[in-house]
Amino acid sequence: MAVTADIGLIGLGTMGSALALNIAENAAPIAVWNRTTARTHAFHAEAADLAPRITPCDTLEALVAAIRPPRAIILMVPAGQAVDDQLAALTPYLAADDLVIDAGNANFHDTNRRARAGLSFHFLGMGVSGGEEGARHGPAIMGGGEKADWDRVAPILTAIAAKHETEACADWMGPEGAGHFVKAVHNGIEYADMQMIAEVYGMMRDGFGLPAPAIGTTFERWNNGVLQSYLIEISAAVAAATDPLTGAAMLDVILDKAGQKGTGRWTAIEAQHLAAPIPVIEAAVAARNVSARLDERKAGEAVYGPAPERLPAGMLSEADLEAALTAGKILCYAQGFTMTAAAGPAFGWNLQLPAIARVWRAGCIIRSAMLDDMAQALTEDPARNLMLAPLFTAHLKRSLPALRRVVSAAALHGHAMPALSAGLAWFDAMRTACGTANMIQAQRDFFGAHGFERLDGADRPHGPWAMA
Ligand code: 6PG
Repeated sequence: MAVTADIGLIGLGTMGSALALNIAENAAPIAVWNRTTARTHAFHAEAADLAPRITPCDTLEALVAAIRPPRAIILMVPAGQAVDDQLAALTPYLAADDLVIDAGNANFHDTNRRARAGLSFHFLGMGVSGGEEGARHGPAIMGGGEKADWDRVAPILTAIAAKHETEACADWMGPEGAGHFVKAVHNGIEYADMQMIAEVYGMMRDGFGLPAPAIGTTFERWNNGVLQSYLIEISAAVAAATDPLTGAAMLDVILDKAGQKGTGRWTAIEAQHLAAPIPVIEAAVAARNVSARLDERKAGEAVYGPAPERLPAGMLSEADLEAALTAGKILCYAQGFTMTAAAGPAFGWNLQLPAIARVWRAGCIIRSAMLDDMAQALTEDPARNLMLAPLFTAHLKRSLPALRRVVSAAALHGHAMPALSAGLAWFDAMRTACGTANMIQAQRDFFGAHGFERLDGADRPHGPWAMA
């Protein structure tokens, strides 16, 4: 079989198909293979004008033969066992200098394991963000593995990636699972951004009594300001949408029970391992789990009555909610980046925070105007918590009073705002030099003789404890 392609792709599901078309259109001729041959040919037929740049292959052997050596093959199959199975199936056909790129949402621990497994070919783990639209017209790409392997495919990956102004949102994050780790943090932040937007939506719906289209108009307005972002933009669109079946607002016919594939959870778990606090993200993951417990929530409402009350007139304004969301967002990203900073030394990776912020500026789900400012602040000082960067201290000083008003009003009137509340509590803890862990240390010493440090430095490792 003749060599017809510069790269191959396995897995023609939604994301794989979109990525293959993007590559065919913007980067290189591509060979594709799917587990079901009918899908491979249907994809080729649907590719229309791009079909001549695509070689549909019926077998893995044919796929490998169609790619110019040293080969590069992208895997876009479900994360987990399917990736291991696919790597095993490819092994007999690949040469030592061929390269396989796992572009699914792998757990970065799996990518670490695969990178260290002694595969007979080269291997990259690559986080791809942006959903189907991003994959087709420009995703953000976070690569991990050997830098030389990344460099080999970088021309294709930067050609298909989203562009911030002229800069491609595709970069090498570090060795082994570094790309998938950064993608997991992205997804943790994605969960938190979505949750905080849902919380202010809830306040407008239940606290202000606004209908969904009016809330959509507010989100649309916010999207012209400091909160400009893809997630605010789509929140405006979903709030404005009408259900074709009933004519009601689309949001009002959707069950409030959220699913998840687990990437946000991985971030929360990893943060615990790293002792890196990310309470806003943890709250967002927990909120999804709470949402899923619909039967228990119904039982709770039956006993205690529904919680969210309409707010007294004038208690909060939409501007308060906008400012609270701004503060929450800064605090959440400050947590995400400090967690990433902790991961570098823990895994032996030299993670570059400014480069991460730059890659997230376009193409990915969390893209926003604020990320450009974050990239700048992190470039000035990558080691500094964003909460202390002058640009963001100015934002926070302006918006914190509103976050306080919103969280207090929510608490007083029964609106669950776990992520925004967690952001505020973290902020107050992080700007308090004299906290309350002295009590924790005394308790630990009391029951376990764990010892403590004294403020005056005097040498007395244990307290004079006695039970009254
Ligand atoms: C992206 C998204 C995507 C993710 C979905 C679903 O960056 O394009 O993060 O990769 O798979 O958003 O995630 P959940 O099912 O966990 O919400």
